[in-house]
Amino acid sequence: LAEKTLRGQRVLITAGPTWEAIDPARGLSNRASGRQGFALSQACAEAGAEVLLITGPTHEQTPPGVSRLDVLSARDMLTACLQALDRPTDIFIANAAVADHRPSHFSAQKLSKTAIANPLPLSINPDIVSAVHRDSRRPRYIVAFAAETHDHLATAGTKAQRKGADVIVVNDINSAELGMGAAENACSILQGERVLHIPRCSKIDLARHLVRHLSSFISLPG
Ligand code: C5P
Repeated sequence: LAEKTLRGQRVLITAGPTWEAIDPARGLSNRASGRQGFALSQACAEAGAEVLLITGPTHEQTPPGVSRLDVLSARDMLTACLQALDRPTDIFIANAAVADHRPSHFSAQKLSKTAIANPLPLSINPDIVSAVHRDSRRPRYIVAFAAETHDHLATAGTKAQRKGADVIVVNDINSAELGMGAAENACSILQGERVLHIPRCSKIDLARHLVRHLSSFISLPG
């Protein structure tokens, strides 16, 4: 039986990819499966937390005891996250692979092949972690993720500072067998100067490791 180390904690988690529509049939997205984010929601619920999972399009099943809200685009995800902060939130875990860009124009009618602008004009999406960090209702702990191919720790450390995350979980996406879209993962948890390496394991094991680590440094109110 899992220890209820997050009992009474309210946790908000983002998961999956986002979908940035061009028209009703087409859009931009990425390879995220949602599996790691769903596993995290399961591990947090097992640890006794009250979990809201805000997810982009995925085929994953909602774990028992987890509340789930489905969204499509990065902007929808941001709106849903900020709305969720209306209820005091202790921990925000940003696992979603949010699309960095969206098509600048959405056409409500399906475009013909030749009507699609080439090159396709793109706009930069808002950063959800930064927005949650700047919000007056900021959760006590913000955990971000970074999928990197090189200079992992340095890049992720800078990213955490820039976005205002307290912890950043870095994973290497050089191998097709690990991370995005794969069944297994391996990562390093960076918290200021501290680094904890979690060797290759299943996504649920990694989620449980992460929850154990989080609960060890999160001071739970009596
Ligand atoms: O900058 P990069 O996309 O590598 O950062 C990844 C981290 O930032 C993840 O925690 C992801 O959920 C979050 N993110 C976000 N909003 C964005 C882009 C990334 O919250 N628009």
